Amino acid sequence: MPCMRIGILTGGGDCPGLNAVISSVARRSWDHGHDVIGFTYGWRGVIEDSTIPLTRDVVRGIMREGGTILRSSGDNPAHGGDAPERAMATLRKHEVDALIVVGGEGTMRGALTMWRDHGLPVVGVPKTIDNDLPGTELTVGFDSALAIATEALDRLATTAESHDRVMVCELMGRTAGWLSMYAGIAGGADVILLPEMDMTVEEAAQIVTKRHAQGRDSSLVVVGEGYELRSSTGLFDGVALEEQLDAYGFPRLGGVSNHVAGAIEQLTGYETRVTILGHVQRGGPPTARDRALASRFGFLAADLVHAGTFGKLVAHVAGQVTAVPLELTEGDARVVPESEFDFVRSFMG
Ligand code: F6P
Repeated sequence: MPCMRIGILTGGGDCPGLNAVISSVARRSWDHGHDVIGFTYGWRGVIEDSTIPLTRDVVRGIMREGGTILRSSGDNPAHGGDAPERAMATLRKHEVDALIVVGGEGTMRGALTMWRDHGLPVVGVPKTIDNDLPGTELTVGFDSALAIATEALDRLATTAESHDRVMVCELMGRTAGWLSMYAGIAGGADVILLPEMDMTVEEAAQIVTKRHAQGRDSSLVVVGEGYELRSSTGLFDGVALEEQLDAYGFPRLGGVSNHVAGAIEQLTGYETRVTILGHVQRGGPPTARDRALASRFGFLAADLVHAGTFGKLVAHVAGQVTAVPLELTEGDARVVPESEFDFVRSFMG
Protein backbone atom coordinates (compact mmCIF):
# COMPACT_ATOMS: atom_id res chain seq x y z
CA MET A 1 0.00 0.00 0.00
CA PRO A 2 1.51 3.37 -1.02
CA CYS A 3 1.90 6.04 1.66
CA MET A 4 -1.38 7.79 2.45
CA ARG A 5 -1.94 11.21 3.93
CA ILE A 6 -4.45 10.97 6.78
CA GLY A 7 -6.22 14.02 8.19
CA ILE A 8 -7.58 14.24 11.72
CA LEU A 9 -9.83 16.77 13.48
CA THR A 10 -11.49 17.11 16.89
CA GLY A 11 -14.93 18.78 16.83
CA GLY A 12 -17.63 19.89 19.26
CA GLY A 13 -17.21 20.32 23.01
CA ASP A 14 -13.80 19.16 24.19
CA CYS A 15 -13.17 16.45 26.78
CA PRO A 16 -10.26 14.66 28.40
CA GLY A 17 -8.84 11.95 26.14
CA LEU A 18 -8.84 13.77 22.79
CA ASN A 19 -5.07 14.09 22.76
CA ALA A 20 -4.76 10.39 23.52
CA VAL A 21 -6.84 9.66 20.39
CA ILE A 22 -4.65 11.97 18.30
CA SER A 23 -1.51 10.33 19.66
CA SER A 24 -2.79 6.82 19.00
CA VAL A 25 -3.98 7.62 15.46
CA ALA A 26 -0.64 9.20 14.63
CA ARG A 27 1.51 6.39 16.02
CA ARG A 28 -0.47 3.62 14.36
CA SER A 29 -0.60 5.50 11.04
CA TRP A 30 3.17 6.01 11.13
CA ASP A 31 3.59 2.28 11.78
CA HIS A 32 1.70 1.74 8.53
CA GLY A 33 4.01 4.22 6.78
CA HIS A 34 1.43 7.01 6.38
CA ASP A 35 1.60 10.78 7.05
CA VAL A 36 -0.79 12.52 9.43
CA ILE A 37 -1.98 16.11 9.22
CA GLY A 38 -4.10 17.88 11.84
CA PHE A 39 -6.96 20.27 11.04
CA THR A 40 -7.55 22.95 13.67
CA TYR A 41 -10.85 23.88 15.36
CA GLY A 42 -12.74 20.85 14.10
CA TRP A 43 -14.43 21.09 10.73
CA ARG A 44 -13.55 24.81 10.62
CA GLY A 45 -9.94 23.93 9.85
CA VAL A 46 -11.05 21.81 6.90
CA ILE A 47 -13.47 24.42 5.60
CA GLU A 48 -11.09 27.36 6.09
CA ASP A 49 -7.83 25.53 5.41
CA SER A 50 -6.06 25.67 8.75
CA THR A 51 -3.68 22.83 9.53
CA ILE A 52 -0.83 21.82 11.78
CA PRO A 53 1.68 19.12 10.94
CA LEU A 54 1.57 16.19 13.33
CA THR A 55 5.18 15.21 13.86
CA ARG A 56 6.67 12.95 16.54
CA ASP A 57 7.80 16.09 18.41
CA VAL A 58 4.28 17.56 18.38
CA VAL A 59 2.63 14.35 19.55
CA ARG A 60 5.19 13.29 22.17
CA GLY A 61 3.76 13.28 25.71
CA ILE A 62 0.27 14.57 24.81
CA MET A 63 -1.59 11.42 25.94
CA ARG A 64 -1.80 12.71 29.52
CA GLU A 65 -2.89 16.23 28.55
CA GLY A 66 -6.50 17.42 28.74
CA GLY A 67 -8.15 19.46 25.97
CA THR A 68 -7.03 19.01 22.39
CA ILE A 69 -3.84 20.24 20.72
CA LEU A 70 -5.93 20.60 17.55
CA ARG A 71 -8.44 22.92 19.31
CA SER A 72 -12.16 22.50 18.67
CA SER A 73 -15.33 24.21 17.48
CA GLY A 74 -18.88 23.28 16.57
CA ASP A 75 -18.51 24.46 12.95
CA ASN A 76 -19.83 21.89 10.57
CA PRO A 77 -20.16 21.34 6.81
CA ALA A 78 -23.64 19.95 7.47
CA HIS A 79 -24.71 23.51 8.30
CA GLY A 80 -24.91 24.12 4.55
CA GLY A 81 -23.75 26.85 2.18
CA ASP A 82 -20.55 26.20 0.26
CA ALA A 83 -18.81 24.64 3.30
CA PRO A 84 -18.70 21.09 1.86
CA GLU A 85 -17.13 22.27 -1.41
CA ARG A 86 -14.60 24.41 0.45
CA ALA A 87 -13.80 21.45 2.71
CA MET A 88 -13.23 19.20 -0.31
CA ALA A 89 -10.99 21.84 -1.93
CA THR A 90 -8.83 22.03 1.23
CA LEU A 91 -8.53 18.26 1.39
CA ARG A 92 -7.54 18.11 -2.28
CA LYS A 93 -4.98 20.87 -1.79
CA HIS A 94 -3.31 18.94 1.04
CA GLU A 95 -3.67 15.64 -0.84
CA VAL A 96 -5.57 14.10 2.06
CA ASP A 97 -6.68 10.54 1.27
CA ALA A 98 -8.87 10.01 4.33
CA LEU A 99 -10.14 11.93 7.34
CA ILE A 100 -10.50 10.71 10.92
CA VAL A 101 -13.22 12.71 12.64
CA VAL A 102 -13.23 12.74 16.44
CA GLY A 103 -16.46 14.11 17.83
CA GLY A 104 -20.00 13.78 19.08
CA GLU A 105 -23.35 13.96 17.37
CA GLY A 106 -22.91 17.27 15.53
CA THR A 107 -19.40 16.51 14.32
CA MET A 108 -20.53 13.09 13.08
CA ARG A 109 -23.39 14.72 11.19
CA GLY A 110 -20.72 16.62 9.30
CA ALA A 111 -18.78 13.40 8.71
CA LEU A 112 -21.86 11.67 7.32
CA THR A 113 -22.68 14.58 5.03
CA MET A 114 -19.15 14.56 3.64
CA TRP A 115 -19.07 10.74 3.31
CA ARG A 116 -22.51 10.28 1.74
CA ASP A 117 -22.90 13.42 -0.34
CA HIS A 118 -19.29 14.21 -1.28
CA GLY A 119 -17.58 10.83 -1.24
CA LEU A 120 -15.03 11.79 1.42
CA PRO A 121 -13.43 8.68 2.96
CA VAL A 122 -14.09 9.16 6.69
CA VAL A 123 -13.82 7.18 9.91
CA GLY A 124 -15.44 8.52 13.12
CA VAL A 125 -14.15 8.27 16.68
CA PRO A 126 -16.76 8.96 19.40
CA LYS A 127 -16.13 11.42 22.20
CA THR A 128 -18.37 13.30 24.63
CA ILE A 129 -18.65 13.46 28.40
CA ASP A 130 -22.42 12.97 27.89
CA ASN A 131 -21.92 9.39 26.61
CA ASP A 132 -25.01 9.86 24.48
CA LEU A 133 -23.78 9.18 20.94
CA PRO A 134 -25.88 6.43 19.36
CA GLY A 135 -23.89 3.50 17.95
CA THR A 136 -21.50 3.15 20.87
CA GLU A 137 -21.96 2.31 24.54
CA LEU A 138 -18.93 4.31 25.59
CA THR A 139 -17.39 7.56 24.41
CA VAL A 140 -13.98 9.04 25.13
CA GLY A 141 -14.23 11.58 27.97
CA PHE A 142 -17.08 10.00 29.87
CA ASP A 143 -14.95 8.15 32.39
CA SER A 144 -12.88 11.25 33.20
CA ALA A 145 -15.98 13.41 33.70
CA LEU A 146 -17.45 10.67 35.88
CA ALA A 147 -14.34 10.66 38.07
CA ILE A 148 -14.42 14.46 38.42
CA ALA A 149 -18.15 14.51 39.23
CA THR A 150 -17.79 11.71 41.76
CA GLU A 151 -14.92 13.47 43.49
CA ALA A 152 -16.99 16.67 43.62
CA LEU A 153 -19.82 14.77 45.31
CA ASP A 154 -17.40 13.26 47.82
CA ARG A 155 -16.28 16.78 48.69
CA LEU A 156 -19.81 18.16 48.86
CA ALA A 157 -20.83 15.31 51.19
CA THR A 158 -18.32 16.26 53.88
CA THR A 159 -19.13 19.97 53.87
CA ALA A 160 -22.85 19.10 53.82
CA GLU A 161 -22.33 16.98 56.96
CA SER A 162 -20.45 19.73 58.81
CA HIS A 163 -23.30 22.18 58.37
CA ASP A 164 -26.40 19.96 58.34
CA ARG A 165 -27.18 21.07 54.81
CA VAL A 166 -28.77 19.75 51.69
CA MET A 167 -26.33 20.04 48.79
CA VAL A 168 -27.73 20.12 45.28
CA CYS A 169 -25.17 19.41 42.58
CA GLU A 170 -25.96 19.91 38.89
CA LEU A 171 -24.04 17.79 36.40
CA MET A 172 -23.69 18.05 32.63
CA GLY A 173 -25.01 15.52 30.11
CA ARG A 174 -27.66 17.44 28.18
CA THR A 175 -30.72 15.18 27.75
CA ALA A 176 -28.80 12.09 28.85
CA GLY A 177 -28.46 11.19 32.52
CA TRP A 178 -25.50 8.78 32.28
CA LEU A 179 -23.11 11.06 34.10
CA SER A 180 -25.66 11.94 36.78
CA MET A 181 -26.71 8.33 37.20
CA TYR A 182 -23.25 6.84 37.70
CA ALA A 183 -21.75 9.81 39.58
CA GLY A 184 -24.85 9.94 41.76
CA ILE A 185 -24.52 6.27 42.62
CA ALA A 186 -20.73 6.32 43.04
CA GLY A 187 -20.80 9.58 45.01
CA GLY A 188 -23.55 8.39 47.35
CA ALA A 189 -26.25 10.86 46.30
CA ASP A 190 -29.51 10.50 48.20
CA VAL A 191 -31.63 11.83 45.35
CA ILE A 192 -30.79 11.55 41.64
CA LEU A 193 -32.93 13.60 39.27
CA LEU A 194 -32.31 12.38 35.74
CA PRO A 195 -33.69 14.12 32.64
CA GLU A 196 -35.18 10.77 31.60
CA MET A 197 -37.12 10.11 34.83
CA ASP A 198 -40.29 11.99 35.69
CA MET A 199 -39.49 12.43 39.39
CA THR A 200 -41.05 15.49 40.95
CA VAL A 201 -39.41 17.92 43.36
CA GLU A 202 -42.01 16.85 45.94
CA GLU A 203 -40.71 13.25 45.69
CA ALA A 204 -37.17 14.52 46.03
CA ALA A 205 -38.10 16.56 49.09
CA GLN A 206 -39.93 13.57 50.60
CA ILE A 207 -36.79 11.43 50.33
CA VAL A 208 -34.78 14.15 52.06
CA THR A 209 -37.38 14.62 54.81
CA LYS A 210 -37.55 10.86 55.43
CA ARG A 211 -33.76 10.58 55.70
CA HIS A 212 -33.63 13.40 58.19
CA ALA A 213 -36.49 11.88 60.18
CA GLN A 214 -34.38 8.71 60.36
CA GLY A 215 -31.50 10.63 61.94
CA ARG A 216 -29.49 11.97 59.02
CA ASP A 217 -28.56 15.64 59.17
CA SER A 218 -27.46 16.22 55.60
CA SER A 219 -28.39 15.10 52.09
CA LEU A 220 -26.88 15.12 48.64
CA VAL A 221 -29.04 15.71 45.57
CA VAL A 222 -27.74 15.23 41.99
CA VAL A 223 -29.56 16.95 39.16
CA GLY A 224 -28.82 16.24 35.49
CA GLU A 225 -28.72 19.60 33.69
CA GLY A 226 -31.42 18.42 31.26
CA TYR A 227 -33.91 17.65 34.07
CA GLU A 228 -37.12 19.59 33.57
CA LEU A 229 -38.55 20.60 36.89
CA ARG A 230 -41.71 18.63 37.65
CA SER A 231 -44.10 19.38 40.48
CA SER A 232 -46.89 17.05 41.63
CA THR A 233 -48.61 19.75 43.69
CA GLY A 234 -48.38 22.37 40.99
CA LEU A 235 -46.61 24.61 43.53
CA PHE A 236 -43.51 24.79 41.42
CA ASP A 237 -45.09 24.58 38.00
CA GLY A 238 -44.10 27.18 35.51
CA VAL A 239 -40.54 27.21 36.79
CA ALA A 240 -38.89 27.00 33.43
CA LEU A 241 -35.55 28.38 32.46
CA GLU A 242 -35.46 30.99 29.79
CA GLU A 243 -34.15 29.15 26.75
CA GLN A 244 -30.74 30.34 25.71
CA LEU A 245 -29.20 29.17 22.46
CA ASP A 246 -25.51 28.70 21.72
CA ALA A 247 -23.76 30.00 18.60
CA TYR A 248 -25.01 26.98 16.62
CA GLY A 249 -28.65 27.25 17.73
CA PHE A 250 -28.53 24.45 20.32
CA PRO A 251 -30.12 25.07 23.73
CA ARG A 252 -27.63 26.09 26.39
CA LEU A 253 -28.44 24.18 29.52
CA GLY A 254 -27.54 24.93 33.11
CA GLY A 255 -29.29 26.41 36.10
CA VAL A 256 -32.30 24.18 36.77
CA SER A 257 -30.69 23.12 40.06
CA ASN A 258 -31.27 26.62 41.47
CA HIS A 259 -35.00 26.02 41.14
CA VAL A 260 -34.75 22.44 42.43
CA ALA A 261 -32.84 23.69 45.50
CA GLY A 262 -35.40 26.44 46.13
CA ALA A 263 -38.23 23.91 46.03
CA ILE A 264 -36.42 21.44 48.30
CA GLU A 265 -35.59 24.15 50.84
CA GLN A 266 -39.18 25.37 50.84
CA LEU A 267 -40.64 21.87 51.16
CA THR A 268 -38.20 20.48 53.75
CA GLY A 269 -37.19 23.54 55.71
CA TYR A 270 -33.53 22.49 55.49
CA GLU A 271 -30.82 24.90 54.48
CA THR A 272 -29.92 24.08 50.87
CA ARG A 273 -26.96 25.08 48.71
CA VAL A 274 -26.29 24.69 45.00
CA THR A 275 -23.19 23.71 43.02
CA ILE A 276 -23.28 23.79 39.24
CA LEU A 277 -20.16 21.84 38.37
CA GLY A 278 -20.05 23.05 34.77
CA HIS A 279 -16.97 22.87 32.59
CA VAL A 280 -14.79 21.54 35.39
CA GLN A 281 -16.23 18.22 34.21
CA ARG A 282 -14.55 18.63 30.82
CA GLY A 283 -11.15 19.83 31.97
CA GLY A 284 -7.89 18.34 33.12
CA PRO A 285 -6.10 15.09 32.38
CA PRO A 286 -7.96 11.97 31.25
CA THR A 287 -8.33 8.99 33.56
CA ALA A 288 -6.26 5.89 32.82
CA ARG A 289 -9.41 4.24 31.49
CA ASP A 290 -10.07 7.10 29.04
CA ARG A 291 -6.43 6.99 27.90
CA ALA A 292 -6.79 3.26 27.29
CA LEU A 293 -10.12 3.62 25.44
CA ALA A 294 -8.81 6.53 23.37
CA SER A 295 -5.72 4.50 22.48
CA ARG A 296 -7.80 1.52 21.36
CA PHE A 297 -10.20 3.74 19.37
CA GLY A 298 -7.33 5.60 17.67
CA PHE A 299 -5.53 2.37 16.85
CA LEU A 300 -8.61 0.85 15.21
CA ALA A 301 -9.45 4.08 13.35
CA ALA A 302 -5.95 4.11 11.84
CA ASP A 303 -6.26 0.43 10.92
CA LEU A 304 -9.62 1.01 9.23
CA VAL A 305 -8.16 3.81 7.15
CA HIS A 306 -5.14 1.66 6.26
CA ALA A 307 -7.50 -1.13 5.15
CA GLY A 308 -9.58 1.32 3.07
CA THR A 309 -12.69 0.73 5.20
CA PHE A 310 -14.66 3.96 5.41
CA GLY A 311 -18.04 5.26 6.56
CA LYS A 312 -17.48 3.62 9.95
CA LEU A 313 -17.62 4.70 13.57
CA VAL A 314 -15.16 3.12 15.93
CA ALA A 315 -17.34 1.97 18.82
CA HIS A 316 -17.49 0.15 22.14
CA VAL A 317 -20.19 -2.49 21.88
CA ALA A 318 -20.79 -5.26 24.43
CA GLY A 319 -17.34 -4.80 25.90
CA GLN A 320 -15.53 -4.90 22.56
CA VAL A 321 -13.91 -2.17 20.50
CA THR A 322 -15.31 -2.58 17.02
CA ALA A 323 -16.47 -0.69 13.91
CA VAL A 324 -20.13 0.07 13.22
CA PRO A 325 -21.81 1.96 10.34
CA LEU A 326 -21.45 5.72 10.74
CA GLU A 327 -25.18 6.01 9.96
CA LEU A 328 -25.93 4.74 13.47
CA THR A 329 -24.87 8.12 14.86
CA GLU A 330 -27.91 9.69 13.18
CA GLY A 331 -30.32 8.22 15.69
CA ASP A 332 -31.76 9.96 18.75
CA ALA A 333 -29.38 10.68 21.61
CA ARG A 334 -28.64 7.52 23.61
CA VAL A 335 -30.36 8.24 26.91
CA VAL A 336 -30.77 6.19 30.09
CA PRO A 337 -33.50 3.61 29.32
CA GLU A 338 -36.50 3.01 31.56
CA SER A 339 -35.12 -0.43 32.40
CA GLU A 340 -32.44 1.33 34.52
CA PHE A 341 -34.85 3.40 36.62
CA ASP A 342 -35.31 0.76 39.35
CA PHE A 343 -31.54 0.43 39.58
CA VAL A 344 -31.16 4.19 40.09
CA ARG A 345 -34.02 4.40 42.58
CA SER A 346 -32.53 1.60 44.68
CA PHE A 347 -29.59 3.89 45.57
CA MET A 348 -31.77 6.80 46.70
CA GLY A 349 -32.74 7.62 50.26
O1 F6P B 1 -21.96 17.97 25.11
C1 F6P B 1 -21.00 18.20 26.07
C2 F6P B 1 -21.39 19.33 26.96
O2 F6P B 1 -20.39 19.51 27.93
C3 F6P B 1 -22.75 19.19 27.62
O3 F6P B 1 -22.74 18.31 28.70
C4 F6P B 1 -23.04 20.62 27.97
O4 F6P B 1 -24.43 20.90 28.09
C5 F6P B 1 -22.47 21.37 26.80
O5 F6P B 1 -21.48 20.54 26.23
C6 F6P B 1 -21.86 22.68 27.16
O6 F6P B 1 -21.48 23.31 25.99
P1 F6P B 1 -20.62 24.63 25.92
O7 F6P B 1 -19.19 24.24 26.14
O8 F6P B 1 -20.87 25.12 24.55
O9 F6P B 1 -21.11 25.55 27.00
